[in-house]
Amino acid sequence: AAIKKYQFDVQVNNVSRLCHAKPIVTVNGRFPGPTIYVREGDRVLVNVTNHAQYNMSIHWHGLKQYRNGWADGPAYITQCPIKTGNSYTYDFNVTGQRGTLWWHAHIFWLRATVYGAIVIMPKPGTPFPFPQPNREEVILLGEWWHTDVEEVEKQGQKMGLPPNMSDAHTINGKPGPLFPCSEKHTFAMEVESGKTYLLRIINAALNDELFFAIAGHNFTVVEVDAVYTKPFTTEAILIAPGQTTNVLVQANQKPGRYFMAARPFNDAPIPVDNKTATGILQYKGIPNSLLPTLAQLPASNDSEFALNYNKKLRSLNSPKFPADVPQKVDRKLFYTIGFGKDSCPTCVNGTRLLATLNNISFVMPQTALLQAHYFNLKGVFKADFPDKPPKPFNYTGAPLTASLGTSRATRLSKIAFNSTIELVLQDTNLLTVESHPFHLHGYNFFVVGTGIGNFDPVKDPANYNLVDPIERNTAAVPTGGVWFMHCHLELHTGWGLKTAFAVEDGPGPDQSVLPPPTDLPPC
Ligand code: C2O
Repeated sequence: AAIKKYQFDVQVNNVSRLCHAKPIVTVNGRFPGPTIYVREGDRVLVNVTNHAQYNMSIHWHGLKQYRNGWADGPAYITQCPIKTGNSYTYDFNVTGQRGTLWWHAHIFWLRATVYGAIVIMPKPGTPFPFPQPNREEVILLGEWWHTDVEEVEKQGQKMGLPPNMSDAHTINGKPGPLFPCSEKHTFAMEVESGKTYLLRIINAALNDELFFAIAGHNFTVVEVDAVYTKPFTTEAILIAPGQTTNVLVQANQKPGRYFMAARPFNDAPIPVDNKTATGILQYKGIPNSLLPTLAQLPASNDSEFALNYNKKLRSLNSPKFPADVPQKVDRKLFYTIGFGKDSCPTCVNGTRLLATLNNISFVMPQTALLQAHYFNLKGVFKADFPDKPPKPFNYTGAPLTASLGTSRATRLSKIAFNSTIELVLQDTNLLTVESHPFHLHGYNFFVVGTGIGNFDPVKDPANYNLVDPIERNTAAVPTGGVWFMHCHLELHTGWGLKTAFAVEDGPGPDQSVLPPPTDLPPC
């Protein structure tokens, strides 16, 4: 194992897209930011120096930070922000994971421009469990706004209304030729006939689940969220914000130019965003003048594709890739996902929209939860998050618009170290329906079942897949510390669709967490 060191200089740079230049926050002046390239078993040291006039913190999305929440990154959850002019070194080991993950700013909406890939190669001499690709490529999908993203966010918070949709989607930071002034901002990937390519696809968009496809070429899905899958072939993938998907593509078509395309999947009854980002897959030796072939994507509201696609994701569970699927549960949690309202004198109509788990909208604390937990600071949070919603009802029946007395509070749930938790996430018809990509920090979870309608506590558990469920970080309870769980749609996170778990090894000071590093940013 090696020690890999990176220097991240957070700064403001002018970047021009869609005929406008604007200042954006970057790492090392790059958009998207640099790729972290490591091997399983390595120790990684990333020194983040903040030169920008914004508070900053960086999250290593999907990395299991064993006993080491101090390096996880979400602001006010595991650390206070790195202030202007200050530095913090994220120091962590890459243990038991290989594949594609990513890093991003974890404060306000700054991840709109502050993000990059993490590529973890297997240990030396360990091949991939699929045909070795000739070459690989990182594909970061994102969103672009004309306006400053912090302004867009504030608008959404203050008015209690969704902020404007982004002005473009992007592939490796580039919208592609379907957008104005974007011809030269087109991502192109050159391929040679007969060769195989591994695409490491990451959805870094703030608020959109995306379909992604390449005209004329099938994908073989081999990994999601740094977990190998049973390979399957598909014409398009579906990827939620926070998720990663590795696919193999063979350059087996007539040499030419083929569009790759990304466009939102949206099953909510809100204005449909049909903006398509495009890039080009170009066979070697083909002139740029040849018009590319268009890519076909599922319809924006194709929820059947979504359901079937997600059902195809299975782990490689086998003696060689043991998945360690828990066969019994120590504790059951049932969380409803909904929206609520609360009064807000400065907002339109005097009300503000809130997003809730068990009818509670999470309020960000002023002190990091992990510090409060580790040093036993009182008054920062209450560890009384309810295991069940206030009252059971038909969650998915007719839309429920009545006020449910939604509360706002910093409440989290205490979980015993080394215990196995069953968590049912029940989407509801409270104000509106929408698909929510839930992300758990510090751990992966097994998706043992998914379906439409109300969870049935008798029938549904009988159908759990305890054989080869996919393991994800965004859809076994863990090491000690405090771990954030939230919807990876930034809009919903901002409205309170989040909570945390405090994992403890017993009464008294939590020995399962290592002591904090000396340069941890003070609150
Ligand atoms: Cu990718 Cu809490 O984040």
